[in-house]
Amino acid sequence: AQPVELTARVDTLPVFSGRATNVWNFATTIDGKHAHDPLLIARRGQRVEATLVNRIGQDTTIHWHGLGNDEANDGSGLHPVRHGERYRYAYEVRNRAGLYWYHAHPHFHTGEQIHHGLASLLLVEDDEELALRERLGIPWGERDIPLLLADKQLGRNNEIAYKAGADDWIGNRVLVNWTPEPHLDVDRAAYRLRVANVSNARMFKLAFVHGTTLLGHHLLGTDGGLLERPLALTQLYLAPAQRADLLLDLSSLRAGDVVRVRSLAYDPMENDAAAAGEDPMLEHPGAAPMGARMDLMELRVTANRPARTALPSSIAAPLPAMAAKPAATRTFRIRISDRGRWMINDWNFLLAPHAHAPAFTVRRGDHEVWELVNEFRSMPHPIHLHGFPFRVVDRRNSPSQLRALVVASHGRTAQDLGLLDTVVVWPGERVRIAIDFAQPYTGTQTYMLHCHNLEHEDQGMMVAFAVV
Ligand code: C2O
Ligand code: CU
Ligand code: CU
Repeated sequence: AQPVELTARVDTLPVFSGRATNVWNFATTIDGKHAHDPLLIARRGQRVEATLVNRIGQDTTIHWHGLGNDEANDGSGLHPVRHGERYRYAYEVRNRAGLYWYHAHPHFHTGEQIHHGLASLLLVEDDEELALRERLGIPWGERDIPLLLADKQLGRNNEIAYKAGADDWIGNRVLVNWTPEPHLDVDRAAYRLRVANVSNARMFKLAFVHGTTLLGHHLLGTDGGLLERPLALTQLYLAPAQRADLLLDLSSLRAGDVVRVRSLAYDPMENDAAAAGEDPMLEHPGAAPMGARMDLMELRVTANRPARTALPSSIAAPLPAMAAKPAATRTFRIRISDRGRWMINDWNFLLAPHAHAPAFTVRRGDHEVWELVNEFRSMPHPIHLHGFPFRVVDRRNSPSQLRALVVASHGRTAQDLGLLDTVVVWPGERVRIAIDFAQPYTGTQTYMLHCHNLEHEDQGMMVAFAVV
């Protein structure tokens, strides 16, 4: 990876019907050409050097979502970069190959900045990944394609609208790679789709539909890279911040067929009293409600001769085992306070005494098990941990629409068998995750645990913890 300079700035770009839209983006120059929110590619073991230049008129940062960086290179709001200033992120990529992403992460304005466009993808490659690509014969950029999904609320003048302080910011348009009404002409062949949900608050229930048939496909990997073996599925929940590496074989379709990338209808389970009585549609004119069926993209099959792809039964080395005896077990209770604030235990990032100071300390190198418990009078929360990927140990009390997707012991879905950095905890559910806090840094490094529903995060559903 070449050193890159990313200027966070406000541009007017013709995103919707060629008309001007206010877009905040990471702008750069690649080979003499302007690029907005570039996809970055790095090799595991390589150094990434990225200089942020802040020109948006408020504090910002670049958070390297999913990477095991030290605090100075994590890019959380603990190290804000002021307007007019520069900050150099320089780190070695230690994570497994996979689709990661980078985004603005200033305290209390992350939702606003990401909604306006300060987010993009970071693809990490390693030997295992390149060998798999070779074996599958699916070339990156041709039939191996990243799909950045994000819904945006568009106002009357084609402007991206955001109301600070609002709840669950869903949008009336869905963009794929910053393209409205997207479609892709596809061959009768296998496609690898690296899907990232970069929406502020909207969870998708992703499926590929031909006529009325849900097309079977395979999950190859999750947030933290490849699974040991491909898992067959027909649908999966993809919450904000989550990624899925999917293999979709279109070789048995016919020229002229259309496959819809769809979010299937699901029960949004907004059981919390705060949301009851509010009409979210007032602030989101034209938006499909959370959980409503939505078509995201069309795949149009062309007349090429079909090409077959043999899917190997094993695609990666087994994931690191979960420790039999964790050094500590911690419980995190998710609930809404009487004043309508989302809390993690009794913490809220806006409230004393813990605001901004680490609420607890973890010993570097320890294995821990964290128990995430969501009240029933709540809603689904995509809980994200900085710095350390984790595995799902078990789920209890899952709602029936999730239980229907369980494929493994302990109530786990296909996604739960991969390495994750974000996990949805449904109302009434208890999810246990296993974390290995190994890292090569010294001293105190402070990280975040938070809800990746960005409006929840900005309203303080976040806690800092220290690794020593
Ligand atoms: Cu992508 Cu702290 O988040
Ligand atoms: Cu993160
Ligand atoms: Cu939340």
